[in-house]
Amino acid sequence: MVSKSTAWASLLALFGTAPIVQALTLNVATGGGNASSPILYGLLFEDVYHSGDGGLYSELIQNRAFQGTTVNQNSDGSAEPPFQTLQYWHTSGSDTLTLDNEAPLLTDALPWHMRVDVAEGATGNTGFWNEGYWGMNITTATRYAANFYLRGNYNGKILCAFWSNTTNSMLGSTTFTVSQTEANGWVPYAQTFTVTTSAPDEKNTFHLDFDGASTAGTSLRFQMISVFQQTYKNSNNGLRIDLAEAVNEIGGKYLRMPGGNNMEGLSAPYLWKWNETIGPIINRPGRPGTWGYVNTDGLGLLEMMQWCLDMGLETILAVWDGLYLDNTILSEADLQPYVDDTLNELEFLLGPSTSTYGALRASLGYPDPFTINYVEIGNEDFLHNGIPTYIDYRFNMFYDAIKNVYPDMNIISSIWVGYFTTPPPVKVIQDLHDYLSVDDMVSKFGGYDHADRNYPVLVGEYAAIYDAEHVNPNQLDNPTLQSATSEAVYFLGLERNADLIVGISHGALIKSLHDEVDNVAMMKHTPNAIVRSMSYYVAKLFATNYGTETVAITGDTAYGPLYWAGTKNDEGTYFIKIVNYDGAASTPVTVVIPGKTNDATLITLTAPDLYSTNTLGDIQSVWTETTVAGSSEGYSFTLQGNYINAVLVA
Ligand SMILES: *[C@@H]1O[C@H](CO)[C@@H](O)[C@H](O)[C@H]1NC(C)=O
Ligand SMILES: *[C@@H]1O[C@H](CO)[C@@H](O)[C@H](O)[C@H]1NC(C)=O
Ligand SMILES: *[C@@H]1O[C@H](CO)[C@@H](O)[C@H](O)[C@H]1NC(C)=O
Ligand SMILES: *[C@@H]1O[C@H](CO)[C@@H](O)[C@H](O)[C@H]1NC(C)=O
Repeated sequence: MVSKSTAWASLLALFGTAPIVQALTLNVATGGGNASSPILYGLLFEDVYHSGDGGLYSELIQNRAFQGTTVNQNSDGSAEPPFQTLQYWHTSGSDTLTLDNEAPLLTDALPWHMRVDVAEGATGNTGFWNEGYWGMNITTATRYAANFYLRGNYNGKILCAFWSNTTNSMLGSTTFTVSQTEANGWVPYAQTFTVTTSAPDEKNTFHLDFDGASTAGTSLRFQMISVFQQTYKNSNNGLRIDLAEAVNEIGGKYLRMPGGNNMEGLSAPYLWKWNETIGPIINRPGRPGTWGYVNTDGLGLLEMMQWCLDMGLETILAVWDGLYLDNTILSEADLQPYVDDTLNELEFLLGPSTSTYGALRASLGYPDPFTINYVEIGNEDFLHNGIPTYIDYRFNMFYDAIKNVYPDMNIISSIWVGYFTTPPPVKVIQDLHDYLSVDDMVSKFGGYDHADRNYPVLVGEYAAIYDAEHVNPNQLDNPTLQSATSEAVYFLGLERNADLIVGISHGALIKSLHDEVDNVAMMKHTPNAIVRSMSYYVAKLFATNYGTETVAITGDTAYGPLYWAGTKNDEGTYFIKIVNYDGAASTPVTVVIPGKTNDATLITLTAPDLYSTNTLGDIQSVWTETTVAGSSEGYSFTLQGNYINAVLVA
């Protein structure tokens, strides 16, 4: 392990003294730009490291429907049935908990339930509790919804309550009155409630208790034991409010979903199946996800579409194209049913409510078709030996089938078009992922300047993951000021080529801080906190200050260590972006925009040190907004910091 100062000193020794630029003058053209992609800055969502389950999805209970846990996982991370367990559940009284599948089942999708055997001679309250996803956020500021299904003979009360581990006290509760027999089968219970005390921290549990004396020596059966926090925009089965607001704040314009590797599946048959993620949650079986846990699929296709509607996001829908992550690739003959299934999925999303699948959508509360303009065929098919079959038949089978029904659909190839032996039709978009070192990120600034305009580019995933201290395969565990600033330089290269670039999205929108400390993400969450990383703030700065048309800018120095690009919008507001990547600590800048003399706002983002990071309780990024007076000589200001990201909004 090299110390930061040593590594930095050796880097300087390699390259000599960092280049210093004393001052910069930028002359901005007022016309003649190119239309920029209206969705340049976007978002990728897949359930990775509990971004969905235990994260954005507002469910508090872990293993709520016994769909599987990691307990029976193989050492390579894959899971074989049976992976259902009672992990995260604990008895709190004299009862014993057993995983059972005795008929009648609640639904075929959920074959296992929890049987609670109450001891002979039990007295007082007895029951069980759940750990949540590393605890739970319990506060008086929100409403909770408790739901469960019960089978068995019971006349009495059921008490549902949150408890604090730290204070060992009850925070709030709700009581259900139950009167049922085994002959009633599965009976649903649902109540909303608030708590009387906010928890001091995240170490909280959910308890369900009933009367021991009247159930002694008998069994009760529970299924789909669910507790929701109030959701974003009060959507049914929706998103955690604080995380959703943080996502919205980035200002992204599209959602690429449902993956990513999580769509592809570790091995057969565990691809992401759209039709098993819709409808009542008791009809969703869940599946072993790609990232070390079983997905509930509660945050399913329609929840993601609702998310797009709620935040005004364009949808980039990825569809499974015959490749599993264990290198299993379907033959042409075996692939056809999956092509048909993709057309069913598109009919479900886009078809009139009179069509078979459109009617299914309407029955689930969405009579109007959604709008989808982008479909991506697969994900990263350049890996797992995917290229030969992708260019031979897989891409074409999906392309032809989709275009046949939806001729205007924009189709995205998950591989670089240069890999094709016969070039794909022009206007096919190529999704190029860039997980790079900070130096390579910066060196891509001019990478698209002379690219072939026939094949637009989506950077569906990016992140700076290596630096002087973190060399492949030792990734950065958190974006630094330097790594985020290298991403900003990369963004400038895309803005300058906005006629070619469709969009860009970070490879990891959200991760659980408890699940994954050692990998970069835009945000990491705990049950009651969010850490917005340096990359988050750079993306927000760029996405929320972006026009509809590029503007040509002439600088009086060559690019590097200062980089710039600009756009303007229909109202005549200019967004001039300047990044100092390892230049002078103090740089006077003058920006001249002919005819512009109104006062402008200068937004800057920097931090004390190139290795500064944002961590829980220690936010190092500094976001400032100052007014720059307009004058006929232009806008003059000084940028402070070797690494600084700035936008002049004029
Ligand atoms: C517009 O795009 C062309 C390439 O298609 C490029 O040469 C030119 O610099 C762009 N102009 C601006 C202002 O971005
Ligand atoms: C609460 O404490 C119990 C032990 O009494 C422990 O098993 C559990 O994980 C704790 N839960 C949380 C959320 O800290
Ligand atoms: C989902 O679609 C697949 C492929 O068409 C089909 O085999 C399966 O039965 C469907 N599942 C459900 C729950 O409808
Ligand atoms: C989580 O807890 C914090 C602090 O207790 C609170 O401010 C926040 O609103 C809570 N978040 C949600 C989604 O309820």
